[in-house]
Amino acid sequence: MMKTEGVSVGASKQALPLSNPFRCIAGIYNAMSVLISFGLIHVWRKRVARMLAVSTGEVALDLGTGTADFAIELTRVSAPEARIIGIDLTSEMLAQAQRKVCLLGLGARIELRVGNGEQLDLPDNSVDLCCSSFLVRTLTDLEQGLREMRRVVRPGGRLICLEVSHPPGPILRALFHGYFYTCAPLFGVLLGQKLSAYQYFPQSLRAFPDAPRLKALMEECGWMDVHFHYLTGGFVALHSATKK
Ligand SMILES: C[S@@+](CC[C@H](N)C(=O)[O-])C[C@H]1O[C@@H](n2cnc3c(N)ncnc32)[C@H](O)[C@@H]1O
Repeated sequence: MMKTEGVSVGASKQALPLSNPFRCIAGIYNAMSVLISFGLIHVWRKRVARMLAVSTGEVALDLGTGTADFAIELTRVSAPEARIIGIDLTSEMLAQAQRKVCLLGLGARIELRVGNGEQLDLPDNSVDLCCSSFLVRTLTDLEQGLREMRRVVRPGGRLICLEVSHPPGPILRALFHGYFYTCAPLFGVLLGQKLSAYQYFPQSLRAFPDAPRLKALMEECGWMDVHFHYLTGGFVALHSATKK
């Protein structure tokens, strides 16, 4: 495995669509996600990080770590000796992550690697927990990703997935879809991006299962004790599971 500017680069095949949208939006990703969520993204991440609180000696995998905001949040509530590995497919997102991690002096606690969540360069049973914040919707092969996460988590280890969802009631669902499918890409334009750069995001939600179907899929992939609950009326859902 080779290292560039503190980010390890392993073999990874391109899993996202040919033109990976995260390449061109890496510089505005944080501003964009705060705008789209009206700042709630910080509240959601904090809540999930508190649930996870990694203990001394444990290794957590933050899959699709992006600009590392969730991994950084995790260090705030975890034991100082806990180790966090942040893996992401997009080196441009990891470059932003690396800058933040260095600035905050967290280089010894967060290890950043380029890698593909659908084909992880990690041994079986090698991490205590796997978490992802707004990753699973963007996976090309969701089932393969869920199986791969299970492979690398040790028996008894946990999985936590925070992701945009489809609200359960028809009215809220229609309102949220209307917002996410049409308004959200326009925020990208406000921040100087081409509309096409943000078209990928509505598309990714259209194809994404709702929370009960995602739970069923996790069970099919071998995860046990799968539970989910909605946050903020179901705009996002939090799924948790255990590997037996
Ligand atoms: C919406 S961003 C979420 C970033 C971060 N976790 C957060 O909470 O803001 C999704 C991230 O998943 C990454 N990603 C997409 N497909 C991936 C894959 N197959 N393996 C690893 N990372 C992937 C993208 O590069 C992007 O950085």
